[in-house]
Amino acid sequence: MKRSCYCGEVTVEHIGKNLILQGWVHRWRDHGGVIFVDLRDREGIVQVVFSPEVSEEIHKEAGKLRPEYVIEIEGKVRRRPEGTENPNLKTGEVELEVHRLKVLNTSKVPPFKMDEEEISENVRLTYRYLDLRRPAMQEKLILRHKVAQAIREYLNGEGFLEIETPMLTKSTPEGARDYLVPSRVNPGCFYALPQSPQLFKQIFMIAGYDRYYQIVRCFRDEDLRADRQPEFTQVDLEMAFVEREDVMAVTEGIVRTAFKVVGIELPDPFPVMSYQEAMLKYGIDRPDTRFGMLIQDLTDNFKNSQFQVFQDVISSGGVVRGFKLEGDRSLSRKDWDVLTATAQEFGAGGLIWANVKEGGKLQSPIAKMLSEAEIEGWLGAFGAKEGDQLLLVADTEAKAAEVLGRLRLHIAKENGLMDPNKYEALWVVDFPLLEWDDETQRYVAVHHPFTAPMDEDVPLLDSDPLKVRAKAYDVVLNGQEIGGGSVRIHDQNLQSKIFSLLKLTEEEAKVKFGFLLDALSFGAPPHGGLALGFDRMVAILTQSESIRDVIPFPKTQKAVCLMTNAPTPVDEKQLRELYLKVTLPKKRG
Ligand code: AMO
Repeated sequence: MKRSCYCGEVTVEHIGKNLILQGWVHRWRDHGGVIFVDLRDREGIVQVVFSPEVSEEIHKEAGKLRPEYVIEIEGKVRRRPEGTENPNLKTGEVELEVHRLKVLNTSKVPPFKMDEEEISENVRLTYRYLDLRRPAMQEKLILRHKVAQAIREYLNGEGFLEIETPMLTKSTPEGARDYLVPSRVNPGCFYALPQSPQLFKQIFMIAGYDRYYQIVRCFRDEDLRADRQPEFTQVDLEMAFVEREDVMAVTEGIVRTAFKVVGIELPDPFPVMSYQEAMLKYGIDRPDTRFGMLIQDLTDNFKNSQFQVFQDVISSGGVVRGFKLEGDRSLSRKDWDVLTATAQEFGAGGLIWANVKEGGKLQSPIAKMLSEAEIEGWLGAFGAKEGDQLLLVADTEAKAAEVLGRLRLHIAKENGLMDPNKYEALWVVDFPLLEWDDETQRYVAVHHPFTAPMDEDVPLLDSDPLKVRAKAYDVVLNGQEIGGGSVRIHDQNLQSKIFSLLKLTEEEAKVKFGFLLDALSFGAPPHGGLALGFDRMVAILTQSESIRDVIPFPKTQKAVCLMTNAPTPVDEKQLRELYLKVTLPKKRG
């Protein structure tokens, strides 16, 4: 290559040397006859100087340069004059005096400047090739590469094999909608793009490939959010002859390795919290532990209350729960009204609030309805003192947990309690194996139907299935689920029992995942695994608001790629070849 080094790599060590650089014109300015260009490539920016004293002709050429022109220059590196150094730039102490310029290509005027901060995301996604040129995006994608490599290196070192699984396959039991691909040579039949390699990685264990991993694309047709894309990447793994602690240890190794790339040391081991504790104290199964405001149950405290709302809720099996606001805040009546409206938006019937005044007196709409003992118990539970503020929700257990969990996050966000420089990882374990689906009137698997129940809970499968805990585990970071997995069932009798609880007939189970059931009957070792959301992890590492920022070509909330315009209609001919006919919904209005 002609190039001596990357623009971003020029340092004081090059002073006096002649270098050839190639890159894009980032900024251009004319300072009293001397032209300064910030030349950019993927490794950074360096200042190059065109002076008429060196060459009138080159200086004139440089006068015609515009942002995003592609140029090659040759020049001598020198120290920048005192007082003109740029400490924000890796190359800020030096500049090149140019004595040769070649314009390799011109550029149309770009729709935004490469150093602009506030660019609408739709414009960025439409001109993604320009957006990806921006230093902020290049840093993110380069980091993504480094994290992937570090993870590979770690897993290879732990004896894992990286093996691929098909992209054209059969539906996997992950529970989202599938992306389907019609088969031309099998009219009327469809492949599904994998929601995850779940079934294949279990087959690898049965086939004896003991420790498998893959950094793999998965596809799910679900409602999109900041942390969800229709195609996303998992660090997927499976291990044989293991218990859940073995999978957790390897996973922690991966997550710690990833964070080390950006110089963050996570604890060893990660704390472990039960699902029950998470739901009680945080109102959510992926608790953000960076701040307090822990929820407490006060049902007992109010069980003999004269306050009608408490009486009604508690007598019908509901709960009274709440938390203490954090920080030195003094919510006015109006603030409480706003917060009450927010709680109602989250599904609460209402919000009970109290400001603690001198001598433990309560300023609260329900103060008069409570006995002294109730107030004392309430204050005591939170160690509340003058100036503190308390809130309560009385509802069904599930609703109270949800509303309080969301209020806790809402208040933390509004008050800047989510420290972006704090990283708190933890495990959530002991999830229920099954939940009841009102719509279909049957049990459904919380994780997937191959998740093993806790050994000591197996008898409960007959007596109280909803009490059965699963050998499942989620890894949570700053309130985001970054991974999840489980120990699988490797015993056919147990598997049949779970299928019958799920009201899956042998026949249906056979049609859906018959090959796995067959495989399980040929000497399946005990096995378990997990998958990490790689995009989510990289988004956290780069402090990105959305995983769209760490995926080179993401889709919008409406699952559209604004650069290519996918998805698009296709030719009649293509449809005919696939034996497909499109019936569009009737246009509304
Ligand atoms: P699960 O469905 O929990 O488990 O997925 C694992 C992790 O993948 C990430 N994730 C997503 N990231 C971006 N966009 C999405 N649409 C999306 N969906 C999931 C999350 C999640 O924790 N087969 C099992 C794993 C196992 O049991 O081994 C599975 O896929 O961070």
